Amino acid sequence: MADRAAQDVQGWGDPEDPIVLLIGAPESLFADWRRSVRALVEAGRRVVVAPAASEDEAAALRRLLTDLPSRPALICSQAGLPTVIPALQVTGPALASGLVVVTSDPPSHADAEARPELAALDLPLLTAARRDDPDQAEAENAAILGFLERQAPREALHYLAGSDPRTLRDALGCFATGVTVVTTRDQTGQPVGLTANSFSSVSLDPPLILFCLARSSTNVESFRQAEHFAINVLHIGQQPTSGVFARSGDRFQDVAWETWDTGVPILSGALASFECATDRIVEAGDHLVIIGRVTRARFEPRRDPLLYFRGKYRRLHFS
Ligand SMILES: Cc1cc2nc3c(=O)[nH]c(=O)nc-3n(C[C@H](O)[C@H](O)[C@H](O)COP(=O)(O)O)c2cc1C
Repeated sequence: MADRAAQDVQGWGDPEDPIVLLIGAPESLFADWRRSVRALVEAGRRVVVAPAASEDEAAALRRLLTDLPSRPALICSQAGLPTVIPALQVTGPALASGLVVVTSDPPSHADAEARPELAALDLPLLTAARRDDPDQAEAENAAILGFLERQAPREALHYLAGSDPRTLRDALGCFATGVTVVTTRDQTGQPVGLTANSFSSVSLDPPLILFCLARSSTNVESFRQAEHFAINVLHIGQQPTSGVFARSGDRFQDVAWETWDTGVPILSGALASFECATDRIVEAGDHLVIIGRVTRARFEPRRDPLLYFRGKYRRLHFS
């Protein structure tokens, strides 16, 4: 994951992204530093570790802050404050966009007085027992990310009609979805299916749901002709199934499936399965919108869903 930002600076993430500067070793700042750095990078931050200086540390930090291409947010421990405070004195807000201090004690009055005039977040240092708790580590990340979004908001990206489709795809990828496998039979009766996250509920009365099928799909004709199809919502353990149904090959070979009333394949053990009669198909650009009337459904709500967000599989985190 690491890449070198400059010869003497360790950093992660896209050099174009807003910088978060760590004052001190990452493991001294976070409960699970690899996970925290990854969370920052995935949230669009460039994470850089300030190199240790042999001479006057505050002066070295001040020089680094002046040299960086953009105003960073700083994360330091209480022990780092004696370096950070003089480095930011007087022109603090001009050199940094915000300061996160990982503290074992609430800041003393004198300590708070000495702080530069800069938006600051005091974050309790997690005790050894709480460090291993993923919920605590996640809460720590959420607090830092929330602070950074307020203090150093990332510049929003734009798509305009006619711009490159990749940017539109990235914009659409900001909508988190579940993952489904849609199935039917082809004209010869063979089971067919593919991974799709374009599933949506449409109407309760009548009960309608939809998914969108790329016209480029090898299964376009099968779904166009099918009187029935099924949508299987995947649970967290079915990520491999999602992979299989997004690649070419015999997709049904290693997956358990059954049939209900209409003969379309129903994946056994899915989080939810909806058997549908094709209600209508709407031609829409490079996709078909396939709307089905639900005739039967089965669901197992105690399982966690498989999620998809910004081009990656994710898992639901209850906090
Ligand atoms: C998470 C995920 C979601 C997808 N969603 C859709 C979708 O909604 N519609 C679609 O046509 N393809 C979607 N795809 C792509 C198809 O699964 C993939 O192109 C598949 O190989 C198509 O197979 P086929 O051409 O045999 O139908 C998705 C793929 C993944 C990994």
